[in-house]
Amino acid sequence: MGNCPVLAGSNEGYGAMTVITTRKTGHIFWITSNNPPVNALGHAVRSGLADAIAKANGDKGVKAIIINCDGRTFFAGADITEFGKPLQAPGLPEVCDTIEASPKPVIAAIHGTALGGGLEIALACHYRVAVPSAKLGLPEVKLGLLPGAGGTQRLPRVIGAEAALGMIVSGNPVGAKQAHASGLVDRLAPEDGLRDAAADLADEVMDASSHPVSSQREDMLAAAREDPDLFNRFRQDNARKIKGLDAPEACIVAVEAAVNVPFERGTALERELFMELVGGEQSKAMRHVFFAERAAQKIDGLPKDTATYTLAKVGILGAGTMGGGIAMNFLTAGIPVTMVEREQAALDRGTAIMRKNYERSAAKGKFTVEQVDAAMSRLNPTLDFEALGDCDLVIEAVFESMELKKEIFHRLDQIAKPGAILASNTSYLDIDEIAAQTRRPDHVLGMHFFSPANVMRLLEVVRGKQTAPAVLATAMAVGKRIGKVAVVSGVCHGFIGNRMLAARQEQANALILEGATPWQVDDALTNFGMPMGPFQMADLAGLDIGWNPDTTSSSSVREVLCERGRRGQKTGKGFYDYAADRTRTPSKETEDIIAGFAARAGIPKGDYTEGEIRERLIYPMINEGAKILEEGIAQRASDIDVVWLYGYGWPVWTGGPMFWADTIGVNRVLSGLERHRKALGPDFRISPLLKTIAEDGRRFNA
Ligand code: 3HC
Ligand code: NAI
Repeated sequence: MGNCPVLAGSNEGYGAMTVITTRKTGHIFWITSNNPPVNALGHAVRSGLADAIAKANGDKGVKAIIINCDGRTFFAGADITEFGKPLQAPGLPEVCDTIEASPKPVIAAIHGTALGGGLEIALACHYRVAVPSAKLGLPEVKLGLLPGAGGTQRLPRVIGAEAALGMIVSGNPVGAKQAHASGLVDRLAPEDGLRDAAADLADEVMDASSHPVSSQREDMLAAAREDPDLFNRFRQDNARKIKGLDAPEACIVAVEAAVNVPFERGTALERELFMELVGGEQSKAMRHVFFAERAAQKIDGLPKDTATYTLAKVGILGAGTMGGGIAMNFLTAGIPVTMVEREQAALDRGTAIMRKNYERSAAKGKFTVEQVDAAMSRLNPTLDFEALGDCDLVIEAVFESMELKKEIFHRLDQIAKPGAILASNTSYLDIDEIAAQTRRPDHVLGMHFFSPANVMRLLEVVRGKQTAPAVLATAMAVGKRIGKVAVVSGVCHGFIGNRMLAARQEQANALILEGATPWQVDDALTNFGMPMGPFQMADLAGLDIGWNPDTTSSSSVREVLCERGRRGQKTGKGFYDYAADRTRTPSKETEDIIAGFAARAGIPKGDYTEGEIRERLIYPMINEGAKILEEGIAQRASDIDVVWLYGYGWPVWTGGPMFWADTIGVNRVLSGLERHRKALGPDFRISPLLKTIAEDGRRFNA
């Protein structure tokens, strides 16, 4: 019965590490993986599994096999770091086939997450037992892939094509209870009794004459065979979500094959599609995003185990657009919030908007009515500034004025308890100048959320000159706790994201005076995959932000638009004209206003292709990104990618602006900037870092 390590193949390159161990209890053969942190199915695990299955089948005393994992999770998928490298046999499809072909029943005992290749292993097993907290899913599509080890063929045969399409194309996991209801999990085990439950099942089935074999099942495919329109309907219903992406269509085609052709042909097609995707630009970019998101959590000079403060209560100052959204993040995470305003009307409005937003989410099924009530009950809205005195973290979200913020931080410092962290949500202002108003500059930093703050996943954590390591670590940890992707930025005007946005906006403003229309400018970006262009964004936010009707002097296109009542979507017209349903159409009036400015400034009308417009908008952003790197404002190029992906909706399939530059070639960006140099304006400077990288033929993301 003792532990009998199975050496994983030759184990070359893995030193003496044994990731798969086996043991026998009675007639049961246990195969246990221990490959921290997530039991990824790297080469050692795959060969260990295949060897162990062979060994179990060669042992006459064995009647059933259980595959389980040590550590925090069942197999979380193929080892993503192996993609793009030569495959070391056995491949995962072979391992799955070996498991399924075992004459002795194989049971998967699942805790944590069975994802990707992990679920494919489980699907190849004859039975699946899971604890209720387990999650099962095929997230390959999020890496620009489709399940490549039989998942597209076995899952529809186990839960039906329609349900499988939903799981495979969304990539979202389902909980074990739902998986049990759909037939994906055969038995739920008590949370602390997985191994016993798996052993019980093994005892029950070990003498049965046959066992369910996923690849041979036909029963669950019947519904889809009677509904041939299912797949086109699915494509139409999900058109918006899958636009621009290659992988979802491959997933649909593969599931369709599961319904229409034999298993062997289906898996051959799946393999072909997988190989095509894994070598393609989209998947490379999306795998970069996976690792970039995780790299962003690693901070130079900050040990992983840096102690953090406990946050029992959060204060928010300002109940406007941002304050309310920021508060919702904490309330949803179960953290009480004190929200302070300067006047009752603003407080009531802010609170009402929060409730409405929660109710809208509840109507979409994201929350129950009880959860909404519970979240709102954790909110203490008040006009009493002193109420912030017992908060562990206070986030200021008042108007963007340095004078006001300085005054507020000075006051906050007087009343906040010792050790409390003071954060500003400022979009552009100097955190060090704000921190200097307090006696605790080491406890001050920026926590810059993106609008709508309850939805957008980015949190820029702005590290001041004096921000203490524990304060920075706490802000990063709190970001994770409220479901954000936090990225550290140094102090500069606009930090990482808005500084690059400003570089783009400058070119957008110039381009329309040079003869490109606002609609051409917006289209150049939306056709690239951005959710909206600069002029659509301006109309949405309102053109009158910062505009004063008393002092307006017709000195810019924007001012004249405001003077003519064109203040954006809310007035039915801005750069564009808007119909009642918010459909936008180009405006002749706007074009005339722009043409008037161009004529007065003597700017000749140019003729631009969409490609040229895009270069003018995006290359200067990349140049600004390079400066941000050069100055140490961002720690690494991939952090800049994460900022743009999660803060501004940059198309994930291009990997972010810096990765995109790497893909097209940094030298191409450099020559584009040189070609446009005159138009880019007298103050434009090419980043020395960008120049060096281009000339050396290197990448930003090395
Ligand atoms: N391969 C390689 N490394 C992986 C990995 C994988 N599949 N999954 C996670 N890791 C690494 C992470 O990069 C991270 O490394 P780091 O500590 O050096 O930064 C470490 O494991 C811990 O990961 P997380 O920080 O993400 O840990 P969490 O506890 O927050 O999340 C998880 C755990 C939910 C399992 C999450 O890691 C995850 O979603 N992993 C990826 C799952 C996935 O996409 N699987 C499909 C892979 S593709 C596939 O299977 C193809 C097949 O069909 C052929
Ligand atoms: P807003 O105008 O919607 O809200 C500001 C709120 O602060 C108002 O309700 C106002 O009554 C309140 N306020 C002003 N002085 C106060 C005081 N002394 N005490 C208490 N409350 C006071 O502004 P918004 O858009 O929420 O912006 C707030 C901050 O967030 C700004 O610094 C802005 O730059 C930043 N920000 C804004 C984003 C956006 O998209 N709107 C995105 C990210 C950051």
